Amino acid sequence: MQQAPTDLTRTLETFDQLWSPRIVTTVNDHDVRVAKVEGEHLWHAHDDTDEFFCVLDGELHIALRDGDEERTVVLTKGSVFVVPRGVEHKPSSEHGATLMLFERSGTSSVGTRHEAVPEHVDATTGRALT
Ligand code: NI
Repeated sequence: MQQAPTDLTRTLETFDQLWSPRIVTTVNDHDVRVAKVEGEHLWHAHDDTDEFFCVLDGELHIALRDGDEERTVVLTKGSVFVVPRGVEHKPSSEHGATLMLFERSGTSSVGTRHEAVPEHVDATTGRALT
């Protein structure tokens, strides 16, 4: 059991790394993660799990690809969105955003299939808070 409440504002002050989700707590078999993002992530898909996004601050774009069709959803502060399992997606944020993610523990930030991982993206199943 969690010993005490977690202050997300303070938690977000403990790291600066972009595209590197931190595990805040777990619920059943899922992680609650937070991440700071700016610029582009990469095209990837999670074949066995949906992925929940909540924008805590800033604005996030998520490009979605289904066969030949591509569209982009725009999440402003306070918006939530779920990318269904198997759907190729590429998050980006021109001016930066802070996110809360909810996904099954062990889920990789770059999915089960993905294009080449650029230097600025951390391929991780979620880092512990320090
Ligand atoms: Ni994803």
